[in-house]
Amino acid sequence: MHKLACPKCHLPLRKEGKSYICENNHCFDIAKSQYINLLLNPDKSTNRPGDNKESLQCRKNFLNQKYYDVILNEVVSCILEHSHPSMQILDLGCGEGYYTYRLKQELPADTTLYGLDISKDGVMMASKYTKDIYWIVGNSKNIPLLDHSLDVITALFTVVNAQEIERCLKEDGYMVHVTANNKHLIEFKELIYDEVKVKSDEHIRLPFHTLKSYDFQKKIHLKNREDTLNLLKMTPHYYHIKKERRHVLDTLGEFDVTIDIRITIYQMS
Ligand SMILES: C[S@@+](CC[C@H](N)C(=O)[O-])C[C@H]1O[C@@H](n2cnc3c(N)ncnc32)[C@H](O)[C@@H]1O
Ligand SMILES: [Zn+2]
Repeated sequence: MHKLACPKCHLPLRKEGKSYICENNHCFDIAKSQYINLLLNPDKSTNRPGDNKESLQCRKNFLNQKYYDVILNEVVSCILEHSHPSMQILDLGCGEGYYTYRLKQELPADTTLYGLDISKDGVMMASKYTKDIYWIVGNSKNIPLLDHSLDVITALFTVVNAQEIERCLKEDGYMVHVTANNKHLIEFKELIYDEVKVKSDEHIRLPFHTLKSYDFQKKIHLKNREDTLNLLKMTPHYYHIKKERRHVLDTLGEFDVTIDIRITIYQMS
């Protein structure tokens, strides 16, 4: 049973033909590829919010090469450690959907998965992976799911809203938060910036009880120019390259790069 809620009034949504509708008759069409657009105009900052098409396509190409499956495996183990039947799981900021799709494959078959992203292009791409996931265009500041309906929220490299997470998770629910540490993709940063700044991670820590928090580091070897460019282009660093540094792009080929992330499991109670 799905837990979709109306983004306007937060009452349950029910499926009626090719739409989802709430008791107040707020109606949302289901797209041909089965995703649902539950993003309200006031929740948009621009006409096409979220990651752009080129960046999403590079992300899709890169992730499908499985270089980052080491990250996926960490998330899967965290969930399996606390797994129980019929879990309801939301992947916040799912992007082009690779991780959500792989979670669906790796977790018990009775798991219900939702993938939510503010980028319509991202969700459209995600919906091509499978129809067995509820793909939602929406804003993490107004999650269109019922109060205390979720067992797990995953958030990989994306913006989150603590209040909404608390509202949507069950009392014994938890969140798997994946964030980048300072050495993450350091080799790109050294190539692009005059000075690599060390940033505090205080602002990305959430005000919940930390059940577990650990760093994961691994150096990966990118086999060719295409994979290297895809990884670079799926990050904001690509868009920060100064004109006078653009020439470094011509020299890129195979590349050794560091994954340096923190995985934190937050519990609500
Ligand atoms: C760095 S990408 C990560 C995507 C995916 N989790 C992954 O690791 O491949 C961040 C994603 O967050 C989405 N995003 C940004 N602001 C958002 C918001 N307010 N609500 C939902 N998604 C948002 C972007 O569109 C983008 O797809
Ligand atoms: Zn409504």
